[in-house]
Amino acid sequence: MTSSRLKKRVIRERACASSLRIARDVVRGDVEVTDEEKIHASFRTIESAFARRGGTGWVFERMSVIRGGGGARAVSSRASVVRSRGRNGESRDGALGRCRAKTGERDGTAPHYSVMMDEILSAFRDVELRAHVDGTLGAGGHAQAMIRTHPEMEHFIGFDVDASAHAIARPRLERAREDARGGEAGALKVSLVEANFRQMAQALEAMGGIHRAGIDGVVLDLGVSSMHLDRAERGFSFMNDGPLDMRMGPSAKTSAEEIVNAWPEEEIGRILRDYGEERHWRLLAKRICERRAAKAITTTRELVDALGNVPGKWGSIHPATRTFQGIRIAVNDELGAVEDVIPAAIEALRPGGRLAIISFHSLEDSIVKKKFRFYAGQAEPLGETFNRYMDQPEKPPKVVKLITRKPLVPSVDEVDENVRSRSAKLRVCEKL
Ligand SMILES: C[S@@+](CC[C@H](N)C(=O)[O-])C[C@H]1O[C@@H](n2cnc3c(N)ncnc32)[C@H](O)[C@@H]1O
Repeated sequence: MTSSRLKKRVIRERACASSLRIARDVVRGDVEVTDEEKIHASFRTIESAFARRGGTGWVFERMSVIRGGGGARAVSSRASVVRSRGRNGESRDGALGRCRAKTGERDGTAPHYSVMMDEILSAFRDVELRAHVDGTLGAGGHAQAMIRTHPEMEHFIGFDVDASAHAIARPRLERAREDARGGEAGALKVSLVEANFRQMAQALEAMGGIHRAGIDGVVLDLGVSSMHLDRAERGFSFMNDGPLDMRMGPSAKTSAEEIVNAWPEEEIGRILRDYGEERHWRLLAKRICERRAAKAITTTRELVDALGNVPGKWGSIHPATRTFQGIRIAVNDELGAVEDVIPAAIEALRPGGRLAIISFHSLEDSIVKKKFRFYAGQAEPLGETFNRYMDQPEKPPKVVKLITRKPLVPSVDEVDENVRSRSAKLRVCEKL
């Protein structure tokens, strides 16, 4: 371990230890910290205590503790505080926010690190979230944190196309629901929808239409989850051999195998160029087509082999990264889904409600930026071909205000902990 990494780790461990002290301070007498089980239970007590005092905002995801000679010592933590109140009513921002483990996992029970957690929670800090939608449930990390920090929540609605994400998220949401209510789980209604978020309008309508313009918050954390990338059988990873699939859910009609073996070379080149942002798209599309002429490409390893040596300096990213990304985006029509969901989400929001979108791809971010600007009443940037004799673009409606003029990006610490967060961008708008 380099000395700067060691130093960071020491700082983190100290921060964790001091969080424990703060926590014990807060409910002095209520909590006896002796072992890991008790720590978990204690933190739930603290959260409920905070909720009862109206000083909500604590988010405890995980506190791993070892018992040393001197008593309990926190070795890693996935805890963060959005806003807490000390005994004298003073605000203590970020007391636990710096405690993050190096594992890339934010929660020991979930195989996915929820990116930009603090920023997402801050975006909704002052919003009364009675009805909240998470369009990309994944492992339920963001959802869990939102439920815990908003005890006023009455209805949580989570979408994911992937049935396995629901299986992971469901018990975690149940725990968060109990935590947020100090053990009374009944008051919060949780509806999980196994569907593409582009069907958000229809799905909300099917819930009785009660949420038409009545949703307080929508979060979208686009793209794939670590569960997709880490499971070879899903075919998303160039690191592990698996069938060439890449479908996030049953709504994707075409698999990666079909694209790679049946699409014309120009079309494959186009998705590598546009979705993969691959500079060598022509060369790589040609190599794929040459290989498939000899034998169908059916596994991720065969595709990596077909690509061969990709020219250029690759640094920390694998030469097949861009190709896999381009094919995955095409398989799941990810950009089309983002285009469709933004107007539906904005329509579902009540005045003052917020929409927050984390994107990982420049084209995705560009769609989010343009749509947000359009609905904020700012005309689309005019293309080069525009001239003043052409029709003026339709006057855009002004139904939202931009909360983030420039996208927020993860902190250096976060990227250091979880390299997958490096390209994340968060944009937030508010319904007028
Ligand atoms: C990056 S993960 C979300 C992680 C989640 N925010 C968390 O904290 O655990 C993205 C999830 O969204 C799902 N997803 C992606 N596109 C979707 C779409 N168009 N409709 C519904 N779910 C989608 C994926 O299956 C994946 O589980």
